[in-house]
Formats: sequence, C-alpha cells, structure tokens
Amino acid sequence: MTVPAAEFRAAIGQFATGVTIVTALDGDRPVGITVNAFASMSLEPPLVAVALDHRRFIVPTIEAFGRYAVNVLAEDQQWLSDCFAGANVIPSREAFCGAAWHPGRTGVPLISGTTASLECRVVERIPLGDHLIFVGAVEAVTVSEPDAPPLLYHRRRYLRIERASTAQVEGKPESAGN
Ligand SMILES: Cc1cc2nc3c(=O)[nH]c(=O)nc-3n(C[C@H](O)[C@H](O)[C@H](O)COP(=O)(O)O)c2cc1C
Repeated sequence: MTVPAAEFRAAIGQFATGVTIVTALDGDRPVGITVNAFASMSLEPPLVAVALDHRRFIVPTIEAFGRYAVNVLAEDQQWLSDCFAGANVIPSREAFCGAAWHPGRTGVPLISGTTASLECRVVERIPLGDHLIFVGAVEAVTVSEPDAPPLLYHRRRYLRIERASTAQVEGKPESAGN
C-alpha cells in the first residue's frame, strides 16, 4: 500500500520543526541550503543527521568537503531561510545571501546571529529513497543566542512562538464589570 505524496506531506506537516542552514565550503567559497530534516541521532558519541534530496546543488560539495555545519535559525532570520531555499532575492544564494559568516574551529562556515551551530564531519552517507542522509560526528558546537526564540516550520509555513502571557492584578480594578 502506497500513501499518496500529498497525504504524506499533509501528515508530516503537522510535525513542527526548527529551521537550519546547512553550510559547507566549495574551495574557499561558503555555500548553504535551508534544511529542516535535521535530527540528533546519538549522544555518546554526539551524532546528528541531515537529509538532502539527492538533486540538491550542495550535495557534491558536502561529499567533496567531507564536513558540514548546521546553523540553527532564530525567529528574525526567516529571510535567510527563504534565501537559502532559493528565493528570488538579492543578494542571492549564489552570493551566500549576503550573510555574515566566519570559519568555525573545524573550518566550516558559521553564519552570524544564529542561535546555535554544530560543526560536523561526515561519517556516513546513506542513500534513502530520493534523499541522502549525511550522518555527522559533531566536533564543535557554539550556542550564541540561548534565549533567542527559534524560527519554526509547521504545515509548510513559518511559525512563531506566542509570547503573550497574563498576570494576576493585585490592585483593585476600577470597573465593576471587570
Ligand atoms: C523551511 C524549509 C526546509 C527545507 N528542508 C529541506 C530538507 O530538509 N532537505 C532538502 O533536501 N531540502 C529542504 N528544503 C528545500 C531546499 O532548501 C530548497 O528546495 C533548495 O534550497 C533548492 O535548492 P536546489 O536548487 O539545490 O534544489 C527546505 C526548504 C525550506 C523552505
């Protein structure tokens, strides 16, 4: 029994994820792509995985470079998610979306202003259906903005965490009705 693609997407879309930019170096040029198929796989040793459609432009670069970084986006970085997903914007993805970056401890490109980044060495490349799973040994991590709200992805849209909250009034409200 095969589930139609649209039904599969609709079900998967109910699962909220964060949004990351997976980056690598093509020679000395940083490249990146928007990825939500990212997961932590093992604690000891620390392993993560990203799933990339085998047609993605960045696949040969990751294979040649043997490393990648996972840059976890903050809520105010939606524009980076769009740009690195190939949106028609300037600066374009070919220009690394004009994003400020610096090399991490292992040489991978880290985007400034993200909440956290993980520097990974590819230890497994697993073809799975139309995707490739790159399992990465995490060799360095940075948590730059531990309190920044994350950018979320849900039902094929960006989602923001609601921060409104209420508090009890300790004084005497003036209106009788309230
Ligand atoms: C929020 C979001 C999450 C995405 N997650 C993935 C993903 O996990 N794997 C993937 O292969 N593509 C993912 N994409 C799609 C790619 O980012 C986008 O299609 C790609 O950048 C186009 O590149 P291409 O020209 O190499 O196909 C995602 C796009 C968005 C907007």
